[in-house]
Amino acid sequence: MKPVLVVNNLTKMYGQKKVVNNVTFSIFEGQIFGFVGPNGAGKSTTIRMITGLTPITSGSVRIGGYSIEKNFTKAISQVGAVVETPQLYGYLSGLKNLKLFAAFYGKAATKRIDEIVKLVGMENRIRDKVSTYSLGMKQRLGIAQALLNKPKLLILDEPTNGLDPNGIVEMRNILRVLAKKEKITIIISSHNLAELEHTCDVIGLINNGRIIEHKSMEDINKLVEARQRVQLFCNYPNYAAMLCKKKYNLPCNIVGNSIILPLKEANLASVVSFLTYKKVKIFSIKKIQKSLEELYFELLNGNRKNSSIV
Ligand SMILES: Nc1ncnc2c1ncn2[C@@H]1O[C@H](COP(=O)(O)OP(=O)(O)OP(=O)(O)O)[C@@H](O)[C@H]1O
Ligand SMILES: [Mg+2]
Repeated sequence: MKPVLVVNNLTKMYGQKKVVNNVTFSIFEGQIFGFVGPNGAGKSTTIRMITGLTPITSGSVRIGGYSIEKNFTKAISQVGAVVETPQLYGYLSGLKNLKLFAAFYGKAATKRIDEIVKLVGMENRIRDKVSTYSLGMKQRLGIAQALLNKPKLLILDEPTNGLDPNGIVEMRNILRVLAKKEKITIIISSHNLAELEHTCDVIGLINNGRIIEHKSMEDINKLVEARQRVQLFCNYPNYAAMLCKKKYNLPCNIVGNSIILPLKEANLASVVSFLTYKKVKIFSIKKIQKSLEELYFELLNGNRKNSSIV
């Protein structure tokens, strides 16, 4: 499969400060790539270089095979982007806004308006003035606007910023439809990994201008699962811990009347029936799962310890 976007050793200097440092990644057709990192990590600057909004210090960006620097028009014609807040006219209706922008792209774009309005679920409010829209509706209209030129690549900088949980779910559903049904490749940035958990296929974690992790969401979930612990409350915790160590070679912590051990859900039943067979009474079982958010901070802090920050 050919990549839709190839970012290679992308670097940005502001004066002596390297705010984006050798960022490299590729995104393939229909993938949703989550670009995640804390405030000031370099997400917007990277996105601004990808979309030609700010000059590249060194490295390269290719969209659909075209260099954003050497072949700007061809590269950018494949992109729809909402960088920071969407630029909308509040005193016009959503529909008028779309018509106005579609006029830039020609008749084909105007014809697509109805279809796009449906895609972003705005049919009921599209004739209302934008000034009466909620933040979520403005974001959806921004996406509609970015879809007018039928882009292969949709770039959204923090589109869930300020949305409530409901708005985040709606946004997720829209993006999944665009990626899976319309085969649009999407980059979405956020400072919150958990927010993107159910949206993205791949995550690029950026900190201090560097990509510190580049993993599929599936692998990230495996990392979370690998850190899973189970707490068994029982009558003889010392004995139970000894049994688990001997039979399964599992390191156990004894906490009050319980043992805590690293255990996948799939192996829980066999451990429980073994302990019961050995006359240990189990009163209750608690799953201790490190959340995605904890993993995120672990990764960021690990990086902080190992990196020389520019
Ligand atoms: N025009 C500029 N001149 C100088 N420094 C800048 C400029 N724009 C951004 N920076 C710096 O570059 C770094 C990265 O900023 P950037 O906006 O890319 O971060 P971000 O990951 O998008 O953060 P946020 O989550 O706050 O949006 C920051 O330290 C910022 O202060
Ligand atoms: Mg930003």
